[in-house]
Amino acid sequence: MRVAITGAGGQLGRSLLAIFGDEETLALTKADLDIRSDQAAERLAALRPDLVIHTAAMTDVDECELHPDEAFEINSQGTQRVAQACQKIRAPLVYISTDYVFDGQRAEPYPEDYPPRPINVYGRSKLEGEKQIQDLLTQFYIVRSAWLYGPGNKNFVEKTLRRAEGQPEMHMVTTQVGSPTYTWDLAAGIRRLLAHNDYGIFHLTNSGYCSRYQWARKILELAGKSDYPLHPSTEYQRPAQPPLHAILANIKAAALGITLRPWEEALAAYFRERT
Ligand SMILES: NC(=O)c1ccc[n+]([C@@H]2O[C@H](COP(=O)([O-])OP(=O)(O)OC[C@H]3O[C@@H](n4cnc5c(N)ncnc54)[C@H](OP(=O)(O)O)[C@@H]3O)[C@@H](O)[C@H]2O)c1
Repeated sequence: MRVAITGAGGQLGRSLLAIFGDEETLALTKADLDIRSDQAAERLAALRPDLVIHTAAMTDVDECELHPDEAFEINSQGTQRVAQACQKIRAPLVYISTDYVFDGQRAEPYPEDYPPRPINVYGRSKLEGEKQIQDLLTQFYIVRSAWLYGPGNKNFVEKTLRRAEGQPEMHMVTTQVGSPTYTWDLAAGIRRLLAHNDYGIFHLTNSGYCSRYQWARKILELAGKSDYPLHPSTEYQRPAQPPLHAILANIKAAALGITLRPWEEALAAYFRERT
């Protein structure tokens, strides 16, 4: 099988390349396929993949809030171009979406069929990407995940460790709650999902949830820095307001026998495997 992976230089892209290493993979970085280009659909179709996994996105939530046109150009129109390529060559598409399509006001976890209501530009642009796919394709997997960390040094784990090195104390919010998800586990889950040919919307995260504060506390503990002065906070002053309690209920994948391990176990594995 010829598998094209957009955003191949990103965290999830790199994990997917490893997980699909025994297949013929087309690793498409932004330099190979810029999805803002009018020719992107044509160029992707010309590669004739049997399957496209579309991870490329503008993922900096605050940057999206500050530059909404760019966010929609990449996350919505860019996704439309990828879907047009899949439509032309009749290839199934896996699109990675996000917990940010929900408002985070629900006390219970969100099932896959709960009506989305994004509260910031990133969430709205990703939801628009979902709609582009649903309009154009029948063979699609929309996989919503959350709080990703994986290869590279831009993720929350690495940033927290760098901050702990560079500053004498740190504050972290207790009010934002989510499911930290290791990209390796997500990539493996996506591969298992594909074996079922069961299209639609899926939620896939490591199981369990925590606040940003609890996540940072666990990161410091695993790094041998349990004594570091980390303080709980309720203030969140950034350009984009995140959904505060957007827990994704992984109902449809679980029905197929696909569940991801608890987030604490996955984080410990990341610490063993990070280079
Ligand atoms: N990170 C999270 O917490 C999270 C949570 C839920 C869902 N998701 C979704 O999961 C997917 C993967 O996330 P991630 O954390 O792996 O993201 P990431 O590390 O930021 O990777 C995204 C990749 O997309 C590329 N890209 C950006 N603009 C592009 C363009 N115009 N054309 C082609 N490629 C472009 C980036 O390239 P450059 O680096 O060269 O710009 C980067 O390699 C995304 O779709 C994201 O929306 C992420």
